[in-house]
Amino acid sequence: MSWNRVLLFSSILFYVCIQQQFWAGSSINKNKSMVEHLQRYGIVQSKKVTEAMESVDRALFVPDGSSAYEDSPMPIGFNATISAPHMHATCLQLLEKNLQPGMHALDVGSGTGYLTACFALMVGPQGRAVGVEHIPELVAMSLKNVEKSAAAPLLKDGSLALHVGDGREGWPEFAPYDAIHVGAAAPEIPKPLIDQLKPGGRLVIPVGNIYQELKVVDKNEDGSVKVRTETSVRYVPLTSKEAQLRGY
Ligand SMILES: C[S@@+](CC[C@H](N)C(=O)[O-])C[C@H]1O[C@@H](n2cnc3c(N)ncnc32)[C@H](O)[C@@H]1O
Ligand SMILES: *[C@@H]1O[C@H](CO)[C@@H](O)[C@H](O)[C@H]1NC(C)=O
Ligand SMILES: *[C@@H]1O[C@H](CO)[C@@H](O)[C@H](O)[C@H]1NC(C)=O
Repeated sequence: MSWNRVLLFSSILFYVCIQQQFWAGSSINKNKSMVEHLQRYGIVQSKKVTEAMESVDRALFVPDGSSAYEDSPMPIGFNATISAPHMHATCLQLLEKNLQPGMHALDVGSGTGYLTACFALMVGPQGRAVGVEHIPELVAMSLKNVEKSAAAPLLKDGSLALHVGDGREGWPEFAPYDAIHVGAAAPEIPKPLIDQLKPGGRLVIPVGNIYQELKVVDKNEDGSVKVRTETSVRYVPLTSKEAQLRGY
């Protein structure tokens, strides 16, 4: 082989390596820059939420081709959506103290599984993160998503689980919960969810129909609850499977 060829091949190899580095670098930067954007706006405030959202790559949870890191909800089929990153971040911040290692967390309307995966990373292998979703196809999809993500080992060891069910009934098996999140708007707060909340536990739930508010429900040690309004929001309804597939 002539020196010219050697030079040609080595420069092609060099070019390929640089390209790969560039691409690898830019996709990591995209996950990171989504979270950095949320930090800049004061929505992501803590190290734990930053770590969880940076580790669970949103691109693995949105339908192919969707712009994964854009701050907006996206359709995922079955008249459902994946919530916007700023809503995921807001709920993770509100629940952070109730997502410590070893704690139990319930995600009602788990959809793509993105937020349940974040919960699982935060409560860790000694904790429990349970998702309940009433569309079986979405549960199947969410299991596939999680298997590709940083939360896969937790699904394997059983500390993360995703179930088909009516989330308005909660999930009694692992109650009481330190944290309960509801990802769809309820006409009123379902009683089973309050019952399944641990004293000292917190429930975050959008409530309303056309006008909706994100409610923060804290259960006191004596079992009484305190409800406050965090902000106004826009979610799909927490309803029956039939009503959802009909288009509400
Ligand atoms: C706005 S989506 C959010 C999903 C999830 N948080 C995410 O970001 O991927 C609301 C989800 O709640 C589900 N849902 C609505 N009513 C439900 C019910 N009664 N029981 C369980 N899931 C329900 C919908 O199918 C939908 O997947
Ligand atoms: C960011 O996304 C890319 C592309 O999906 C992925 O390979 C990478 O591991 C992600 N970064 C982190 C920190 O998870
Ligand atoms: C969603 O709702 C519309 C009505 O808005 C309905 O026609 C359609 O069948 C629903 N789609 C799915 C996938 O259930």
